Amino acid sequence: MNQNIKNRLKRTAILCLLAFAIMGGITFYQIQNRMAQITPKPGQTIERPVSQIAGLNIGGPFNLIDHNGNEVTEKDYEDKHKLIYFGFTYCPAICPTELQKMVRVLKELGPAADDIQPLFITIDPERDTPEVMHEYVKLFQNENLIGLTGTQPQIDFVTRSYRIFATKVQEEGMQDYTVDHSSFTYLMSPDNKLMSIYRIKDSVDFMTQDILSRLPKNSDSDSDTEGT
Ligand code: NI
Repeated sequence: MNQNIKNRLKRTAILCLLAFAIMGGITFYQIQNRMAQITPKPGQTIERPVSQIAGLNIGGPFNLIDHNGNEVTEKDYEDKHKLIYFGFTYCPAICPTELQKMVRVLKELGPAADDIQPLFITIDPERDTPEVMHEYVKLFQNENLIGLTGTQPQIDFVTRSYRIFATKVQEEGMQDYTVDHSSFTYLMSPDNKLMSIYRIKDSVDFMTQDILSRLPKNSDSDSDTEGT
């Protein structure tokens, strides 16, 4: 690898990390503020603060294009829970790490993972065409993982409704831009209600246990309806 490319990758990695730290910090601070406003009922302890976030209005309908070039909407995945991560394929560090983590969680979940549709939605549709997404999702070796892209307005719409911060950054002397973005993995119910938000610091184990605690108890892998 020549020195220029190395330097560029290094800078992109640093920018990506910085962006995550700053935006993740701000967004999570806001979420925590919001959580602090929610008063627990008498005698109730907050065991998993993350569940308090479920009151936040995050998520919504979308029109996107999957990595096979098909037009899809949220309705195409409404028979399953969803694990959704937003990122971009050129991200050198955080996005691949978080997607790898998602795939490991699905593995840990075993048969329960049959009830979960993993989605990777790009925040960089300009470069992340369906073809690019198709090649990228293959790297994670989970045949259920679906990459979603779309037009810029379609992506803007979905990032807004999921409150994902994403902005292009072009540094002087850099040929390619990078994208600063927040890094969250969302667990959504089959009817697209927010169930949990996972952060970079949440481990595979934590995510697995949290997801198991939220899935309907008798979820044998056959497609029966939601228990609640
Ligand atoms: Ni990233």
